[in-house]
Amino acid sequence: MFLNSRYQYLLLGLCIVAPKSIIEVGLARGIRAFQMIQLAKKYHPDIKYTGYDVFDTKDANWHRLVGNGKKVEAKSIIEKNLKSLSNNINLFEGMTSETLWPYTNKADYVWLDGDHRLESIKKDFEALKESKVIVFDDYYSTGEHDGFHIENYGCNKIVETLNINEIFITPETKDLPNIRVVFWSKDIFLINKLKKCLSDSNEIKKIIKLISQN
Ligand SMILES: C[S@@+](CC[C@H](N)C(=O)[O-])C[C@H]1O[C@@H](n2cnc3c(N)ncnc32)[C@H](O)[C@@H]1O
Repeated sequence: MFLNSRYQYLLLGLCIVAPKSIIEVGLARGIRAFQMIQLAKKYHPDIKYTGYDVFDTKDANWHRLVGNGKKVEAKSIIEKNLKSLSNNINLFEGMTSETLWPYTNKADYVWLDGDHRLESIKKDFEALKESKVIVFDDYYSTGEHDGFHIENYGCNKIVETLNINEIFITPETKDLPNIRVVFWSKDIFLINKLKKCLSDSNEIKKIIKLISQN
């Protein structure tokens, strides 16, 4: 069974991990943030969400440079939207070189989807690597996407350095088959559970049924 989009793996994975805390690097318009908090609330009503982004403070040239093709929204608008779901929301505005790298942080579930430059993803990962599960976006199975080559963009070169037993590269999806998300965790039991459930269409159907019941 091919899922429509890699974001479905992110959301299904969240249901398996049932995190008490989420960190997202790169929010764009906050769509995934809203979806993740909504789902996580089913497991922990007091879910803590932390987001890092430059929001609407940079111009189109800057977004091209960092490989961002998504529309962005102002921090205040996203914050208002997310606070309708939870009071435990913290948004940090600015480049992660200033807001994250000097401090480090951790969460049960991290969606690492900010700056697409390899060197920046490395530093974002370094700052968050005490987290339970990190989900990388932008693994290019063909070695590039839209002219962005894995020598300088995406997470391939980082994933190559990780212990193979600690990662799960998701299968292709219908919309953009060459872009995958990659789950990483030092918890081998958990990564094996993610692998098993997310590779099995019956398990996926079970999770979908479960979350639509609650
Ligand atoms: C691909 S979008 C995020 C999409 C979102 N996670 C989702 O699932 O819909 C990337 C975001 O990262 C932000 N970003 C890129 N480089 C960044 C940096 N160095 N520091 C902070 N935010 C950055 C961009 O402003 C943009 O909102």
